Amino acid sequence: METTPSSTTVLALSVSIVVLLYLKFKRSSAQLHTIPTMGPSGPLSSYRGALNYLRNAPKIIQAGYYKHKSIFRVPYLDKWVVVLSSPELINDLRKARDDDLSAAHGFAATLAVNYTLGAGFVTNPYHVRVIQSSLTRSINARFADIHDEIVTAFQDEIGKLLNQNSGFDTSNWVVVPALKTVLRIVSCTSNRLFVGVELCRNTDYRDLNIEFAEDVMKSAKVINLFPNVLKPLVGPMFSPLPRGMARAKKHLVPMIEERLKVEEEYGKDWEGRPNDLISWLLEHATGEERTVSNLIQRILMINFVAIHTTASSFTQALYHLAAAPEYVAPLREELEAALLDDGWSKAAMGKCVKLDSFLRESQRFNGVSAINMNRMVTNPAGFTFSDGTHLPRGSFIAAATYATHHDDAHYANADMFDGFRFVPRGVGAGGEGATESAKFGMVTPDAAFLSFGLGKHACPGRFFAVTELKVMLAHILQNYDVKLEREGVLPPSEWFGTTCVANRSANVLFKKRT
Ligand code: HEM
Ligand SMILES: *[C@@H]1O[C@H](CO)[C@@H](O)[C@H](O)[C@H]1NC(C)=O
Ligand SMILES: *[C@@H]1O[C@H](CO)[C@@H](O)[C@H](O)[C@H]1NC(C)=O
Repeated sequence: METTPSSTTVLALSVSIVVLLYLKFKRSSAQLHTIPTMGPSGPLSSYRGALNYLRNAPKIIQAGYYKHKSIFRVPYLDKWVVVLSSPELINDLRKARDDDLSAAHGFAATLAVNYTLGAGFVTNPYHVRVIQSSLTRSINARFADIHDEIVTAFQDEIGKLLNQNSGFDTSNWVVVPALKTVLRIVSCTSNRLFVGVELCRNTDYRDLNIEFAEDVMKSAKVINLFPNVLKPLVGPMFSPLPRGMARAKKHLVPMIEERLKVEEEYGKDWEGRPNDLISWLLEHATGEERTVSNLIQRILMINFVAIHTTASSFTQALYHLAAAPEYVAPLREELEAALLDDGWSKAAMGKCVKLDSFLRESQRFNGVSAINMNRMVTNPAGFTFSDGTHLPRGSFIAAATYATHHDDAHYANADMFDGFRFVPRGVGAGGEGATESAKFGMVTPDAAFLSFGLGKHACPGRFFAVTELKVMLAHILQNYDVKLEREGVLPPSEWFGTTCVANRSANVLFKKRT
């Protein structure tokens, strides 16, 4: 029987939540008293500070970055987070052992994983190895599929509109809602690699992977409003997992059951075994991870980390291209030379150093978060930085990515978008002299380029993500002209706390290339 909680119960519950949060926050503050704070640090005023931080996170972090040269802390509702602003301390993060600083616990806390993605994301993160090894190794072999899916998805989303609109008249522009369209294209493309051509084009499956990720972010925000002791209670109430799993199972159960059966009978070597995510997961999964349900959950997790990051990053680059037509001619020239030499291939994309630079610059300029490299101190003795600063166990740390990327000390005119900033010296207009060296490429993080993190935990999906970004932009350059509704005016990004998303409502105008 369902009962409505009385107003006294609600009041008692609310009061205890506030008290618990306050006690936790106070303990966190006392432990970090040597670290300078951004915003008020008094018991109640810091609460105001936390609310202010929710609304103005990137500005507050940037102010802290310049005020406190290496380290400071910012208030969340239930804790302080220590933010690093010097390359030396960020390098300490890079070098730290997992036993000292845990990336998994950093994730777990921000995403409330036990109630959103599932505890396995942290307790057995074998999907990281799957992405690092099998998936990344297969990009070359699956390149033709990735390209084919991008061609098909663009045709479905944009080509059809153009045909309806203009018939044989190529002078017409069609209005395309950018982020929404790019999310669909990225969902299809990623899942062509993950689960194959049939399922990746199923619109319910495509949308499921877009929407599940959004649900995870929303529920994590709500669940994180509650203190830890109440999470086991409220977590399941707000969990997106049951619904997401039910929807995913409709599409994936027969496929995975079949594959488990064949693997059981023939092992890893059978004729026609697809080179896809299911095979790669089965290469690494052991014990309970080999159940249909856990494998499906793992596919949802990988879609979660893969789709929105890539789609937002691509949409930002698309806005920059549409806003600045002067980049089109040199990018096309380079692309056409590379395609002439190598056709649509990973090698050709490797030669497009201007394309790489343009995407890397967009990632530097925008990024997906004001802070990256979230870590929690797990060593009982705490963690000591190379400058002697000590943090106790349980402290949360992150690097000031956005502020670093916009610091003139690292980039000349850092607040200017300069699409060819990262083109290696000595590369000619047609790309002559370019090598396939990834040394300066977008996939290579450094202490001043943190969009993919840095060190051992740097994003394992970045090799695939960069391939996808390049092929999508190259496909647009080859086939379309693009512009913005208000020509030359870049649609502003949207911030949610520390998360940055490409403008969700802006349109890009497409027309057949003339
Ligand atoms: C442009 C797109 C992407 C961006 C900007 C991005 C960014 C990031 C960042 C900042 C991290 C944290 C790194 C750290 O803390 O040091 C991360 C981790 C991760 N990313 Fe990505 N990512 C992207 C695409 C992808 C894709 C396509 C996949 C999967 C195919 C993926 C899988 C992961 C995984 C599994 C982790 C956790 C790694 C670990 O805990 O060791 N990412 N990503
Ligand atoms: C999450 O679940 C795992 C395994 O079920 C457990 O060990 C861990 O303590 C939980 N973490 C939180 C923050 O609830
Ligand atoms: C997104 O871009 C549109 C068009 O440029 C603009 O009108 C809108 O205000 C932007 N949204 C945000 C949240 O800035």
